[in-house]
Amino acid sequence: MKNKINAHNSILDLIGNTPLVRLNQITKPFKGNFFAKIEAFNPGHSSKDRIASYIIEQAEKTGILEPGNTIIETTSGNTGFSIAMVSIIKGYECVLAVSSKSSKDKIDMLRSMGAKVYVCPAHVSADDPRSYYQVAKRLHEEIKGSVYINQYFNALNILAHYKSTGPEIWEQTNGNITHLIACSGTGGTISGTARFLKEQNPNIRIIGVDAYGSVLKKFHETGEFDNDEIYPYRIEGLGKNLIPEATDFKVIDEFIKVTDEESAHTAREISCKEGIFVGYTSGAVMQAVKQLSSESEFTKNSNVVVIFPDHGSRYMSKIYNDQWMSDQGFFDSKNVEEEQAVEYVK
Ligand SMILES: Cc1ncc(COP(=O)(O)O)c(C=O)c1O
Repeated sequence: MKNKINAHNSILDLIGNTPLVRLNQITKPFKGNFFAKIEAFNPGHSSKDRIASYIIEQAEKTGILEPGNTIIETTSGNTGFSIAMVSIIKGYECVLAVSSKSSKDKIDMLRSMGAKVYVCPAHVSADDPRSYYQVAKRLHEEIKGSVYINQYFNALNILAHYKSTGPEIWEQTNGNITHLIACSGTGGTISGTARFLKEQNPNIRIIGVDAYGSVLKKFHETGEFDNDEIYPYRIEGLGKNLIPEATDFKVIDEFIKVTDEESAHTAREISCKEGIFVGYTSGAVMQAVKQLSSESEFTKNSNVVVIFPDHGSRYMSKIYNDQWMSDQGFFDSKNVEEEQAVEYVK
């Protein structure tokens, strides 16, 4: 076997099996043990690699997708990047309709990965013809042989995590997980992971993280879709102004809401205290941990797994940019003293 080359066949082989890492500093004041599933270790640097590869694979298996076809999706950035990556390896065209709320970095990244990008206004209703849902639908009708992934309404989104993220966490914790805390956007991550974990142990607490300005928490608690809950917020990928079919509300015990401001500061705190450079929603999930801890959710025996969905490098023009933070008013109240100064040596 002298000539055997120890290499992966393509970058797609590296999707999944992301590490679980103990959090040591930021969680010091809290009772319990805390572990982060770091999805930035996927080759496309987010959890969305899992659904992109799984959904495309299933479409190939059922003959829906044929070589040279176009794959269309609505995305806040990460799913698009993952689909673009898979499309390159597998030889598909990739067309993406994204929200104008997405950072410029993310849009440039999608284009760099070979995707054609349509940027659509963020603050219009889901049924407005300019919304990214309607634009994607229109493109799907117009482009012959196109496939619309439709992550918010695709049951395979849940299945992708049921088959990968759930079993990985169960194995990595040797079945000793007591809590799963994850952001809910499409709901695929939390629903698929929770469905698997609850099948192993129904006592595991599943807590979804939602944004102020989103309808998910109230819908979960009351079954009511309340338009009055909807208003613009800044975190990308978290919460929704519609009820996604890719969310299985039955397997989620509770939703907790977090603010844009606290989530941004907490993301910065994770990077500084744990040396893990995380995205905005990772800040949101840790912010939820802080709030739950103050509500005495955890005991010293709790083994809490949080999912960090993506990498901090995607937010250089947002939460890691002091000017952006200042423009949002995020330095007005607290944490200002914690910001690091830059000295220019002349
Ligand atoms: C950065 C980020 N975090 C969290 C999520 C939420 O994951 P899910 O859509 O599986 O609920 C998304 C989804 O778009 C995301 O892009």
